[in-house]
Amino acid sequence: MKLIKASDYDELSKIAALLIKEELDNKPALNLGLATGGTPIGTYEELIRLNGEGQIDFSLVKTFNLDEYAGLDAKHPSSYSYYMDNLLFKHINIKKENTHIPSGDAADLQEECRAYDELIESMGGIDLQILGIGTNGHIAFNEPADRLSIGTSVVDLTPSTIMDNSRYFDSIDLVPTTAISMGIGSILKAKKIILLISGQSKRNVLKKLMEIDYLSSQLPASFLLLHDNVILVADMEALGEAI
Ligand code: F6R
Repeated sequence: MKLIKASDYDELSKIAALLIKEELDNKPALNLGLATGGTPIGTYEELIRLNGEGQIDFSLVKTFNLDEYAGLDAKHPSSYSYYMDNLLFKHINIKKENTHIPSGDAADLQEECRAYDELIESMGGIDLQILGIGTNGHIAFNEPADRLSIGTSVVDLTPSTIMDNSRYFDSIDLVPTTAISMGIGSILKAKKIILLISGQSKRNVLKKLMEIDYLSSQLPASFLLLHDNVILVADMEALGEAI
């Protein structure tokens, strides 16, 4: 894993956006894997700025999001579909039909998972995957557990993730307890991965990730060690003084 240190969140966001721009410059029809949550918001703001200035073009880009809450339809204000539309898609020149997010309200969630992996595969796979990390080490919604899914699957969210994500809901009781998530295998198939880690709340998990030299299903992000093209961009708040 290659580490890029950013002085703060703003710099992290600028670095991440430039790394994405680099890939887009090389391949305008990029298949881009996207994450939600708080961490990539600054990166998306930068991408919007660069797009507005004509420095990047999304007209040929296809996007694939990592996950979606089960039970929420795309119009629900806490759904990841709504998040993506409002924080990125509606501000850039991407074609709506080229953006893909699992449907949390699909009648058959298992079928939705199977079809999602197939869709990504049929479109040539993900060129660049953007990832955040949970305070418990999850990537996408692959939570610490005895077993981790290889492909996209329906997953149970842990109490700590439900607590972390309750800030996006009116009350913690409204946070869905299950989600559709790309699996560890689906993520590792991406040709390149950028992992963004920001803020003091991630210091612990970042330290664990930097120290671990084996695979642990209790630290799902440790599976990124299997991939030979991962760039970790972390800010000083997350890095702390120890690293
Ligand atoms: C979101 C996702 C999650 C988040 C993680 C960190 O699509 O897959 O794994 O990346 O929960 O969230 P933030 O950035 O809010 O700390």
